Formats: sequence, C-alpha cells, structure tokens
Amino acid sequence: MSKKVTLIATAAMGLEAIVGKEVKALGYEDIQIENGRVVFEADVSAIPRANLWLRTADRVKLLVGKFKATSFDELFENTKALPWETFIEEDGEFPVVGKSVKSKLYSVPDCQSIVKKAIVERLKVKHGIDSWLKETGAFYRVEVAIHKDEALLTIDTSGSGLHKRGYRVGQGEAPLKETLAAALVQITNWTPDQPFVDPFCGSGTIAIEAALIGQNIAPGFNREFASENWSFIPQKVWDDAFQEAEDSANYDQPLQIFGSDIDPDLIEIAKKNAMEAGLGELITWKQMQMSDFKPKQENGYLVSNPPYGERMGEREEVEDMYRNLGTIMRDHPSWSVYILTSHEGFEKLYGKPATKKRKLFNGFIKTDYYQYFGRKPKSKPDNGKGFGF
Ligand SMILES: C[S@@+](CC[C@H](N)C(=O)[O-])C[C@H]1O[C@@H](n2cnc3c(N)ncnc32)[C@H](O)[C@@H]1O
Repeated sequence: MSKKVTLIATAAMGLEAIVGKEVKALGYEDIQIENGRVVFEADVSAIPRANLWLRTADRVKLLVGKFKATSFDELFENTKALPWETFIEEDGEFPVVGKSVKSKLYSVPDCQSIVKKAIVERLKVKHGIDSWLKETGAFYRVEVAIHKDEALLTIDTSGSGLHKRGYRVGQGEAPLKETLAAALVQITNWTPDQPFVDPFCGSGTIAIEAALIGQNIAPGFNREFASENWSFIPQKVWDDAFQEAEDSANYDQPLQIFGSDIDPDLIEIAKKNAMEAGLGELITWKQMQMSDFKPKQENGYLVSNPPYGERMGEREEVEDMYRNLGTIMRDHPSWSVYILTSHEGFEKLYGKPATKKRKLFNGFIKTDYYQYFGRKPKSKPDNGKGFGF
C-alpha cells in the first residue's frame, strides 16, 4: 500500500509531546508537533494503526487540504479543488462541522454550508452523478477549521473520541479521561515489573490504563472506528492492523497493579470496567481509605488523581489527606509518587517540593502533575512478598 496520507492526531493541551512520542513509537518519523495536535505523513495503514494504538491522542483526522480563505468564494473554490472523491465514495454520508478563530470568515454555519456545497459539486462531477447524493453509506465527518484565515479541511477517521476505549461500563462523579490517565502513566518511568498503586482509584481508569500499557494491549482493541467502513482503506489493511495488535499483546506479562478507594460502589464499578477491558482479575481492587495504605515492597509507583478539595466543605479534609499521604510516603523513599491536583498548596501539604511539575488540564480544570522520583533501586523489586495491603 503506497498511498501517502497526512494525518493529524489531536491532543489535549499539554499532551502534544506525549502524543508525538507515541506517533514516533509507531514508526512514523516525519512528525510536526503543534499546539493541540501532531501532524505526520504516513502510509494509509497508519489510519488503523494510529487509531488502534494511540493512547493519549483525542482523535485521528485525515488532512484533505489547507489554504488561505478570506472570502466565501475563496473557501468554495479551494474546497472544490480538493480530491474529495479519493476518500468519499458515491453514497458516503458527509456532515460538515466547523470552527473559526480570529478569522474574517467568522460565521461557522455559513462556512459549513459552503464547504458542503463545494464537496457536493465536486463529488457529483467526479462520481458522474446527475441527481442528488444519497448519503446512505459510510460516515465521513468533514471539518472546516479556520484559524487566522487559514482553512484546514479534514475528515475524522476515529468516530467516537479515542478516550472511548469501550471498557467503561460505569463511572464515578469525576472520572479521568482515559487518554489523560494513560498520559499520567506514560509520564512516569514505571515498568511492568514494578508495583503500581492508585489509592484514590474511583472507577479505576489509571490502574486499567497501566495494565493495558503493562501488557502492551492496544487501547482501541475493543471498539470500532468510523474509517473501518471506508472503501478507500482496503479491508486487509484493517485486518493486518488488528492482527498486529493481537500479536503484540503480551498477556503473559505478570503485573502488580492495585487500585483502592474509600467508596465500595466505585470499587465494584472499577472491577466491572477492568473485566470489560478484558483484564479479568489482573488488577487487585480493594475498598480502603488511603490512610490505611502501607506499602510492603520497594520501588513502587503511586500514581493518582485524588479529590482536589474544590467543593465547599471538602477542602480541609482533602488537605489532611495530602498531609497524611506525605507522612506515609516519607517512610518509603524508594517509591515514586505522581499526583494530579489543582490544589496549589499540594507540595507544602505533602511536605516536600516535587522533583518535577507539569501543567496539565483535566477537562477545563488547570492542574499540576506533581512528580516525586523514588530513590534509585539498588536491586530488582522483590515480587515474592505480595502486596500486603
Ligand atoms: C477524583 S476521584 C478519582 C477518579 C478516578 N481517577 C477515576 O478515573 O474514576 C477521587 C476519588 O478519591 C476517593 N476518595 C476520597 N477520599 C478518600 C480517602 N480518604 N481514601 C481513599 N479514597 C478516597 C473518592 O471516592 C473518589 O473516587
């Protein structure tokens, strides 16, 4: 398959470099990291592979073209000049969505209908159709995104956002997006032979993402993608990508992943989510309050998204919890601790400045990811002792 395509892996603010690393790890070298996205050129097989494997990207879009557009005429003519028929088949359904920032063409509904009209005209000529287009076939969500008078025309290859792995059957009040949870794990130096704990696990997202990473399971393995139905991508290319994912999974990799939460209902949900993800009994779940956490092993990783204390009446309790966590972990200097919170006093409460901090957004909440590196291990972790929680 030698057809080259330009793909855009969209990323939440702050995660671009991590998405870039993932794209490179898939073997694509020619990449550009930009605000909110990673652009790369690749063979068409990158569409299934990127959708199946990218853990931290929001979506994968196919770039059809970009051009300057300061008038509706320019938008229409330049859109019509793009090779839409290469991608969208005769009966393809192609709604057009749009956005416009700092541009002369600011009316998004007008831009959408002009782009729609231009594509319709082009497809009718190229597919030799006199009547209207039926639009009863595969789904192609076209986007016109105009930024500073430059229009970017893309087709979404993913369908639902990539955070929808297909395993979340239940959730708590503030579940972490799966893509962010995967990023939190990837930012650490955790290796699958080391203990991994989330003592505020809620619906289990961080622990589940760690298990998927630990066994090298493709995060998109349990779901479907819009581009699976596109005739432009031969079925074999999809079959090969799914086969590659199956062959790459290391289901025999033993893991020591532990998730606990004070709320018994959430532990039940976490268990169900892990089952749905195909992880069976691989993760140990327990209803427990964080203050009862007593690591018995060395060189573990604690990665967590505790309550932030933003709600009325919650702050004091949360601050006590952060102090308590600091006290517990002080006795376990070989452990690495990674905490995502919006509470700006975290380091003071924890009792130690972080080795490193990273600004991340949890949805619209501005947070910091506080990273405390454990003392360098002198030997391999002792896997024989069990968790002892
Ligand atoms: C922000 S949520 C975590 C969400 C989780 N990352 C997810 O994806 O579902 C914080 C969790 O901390 C739990 N929690 C609150 N106080 C706790 C305590 N003292 N010990 C253990 N868990 C606690 C809550 O029940 C809640 O599930």
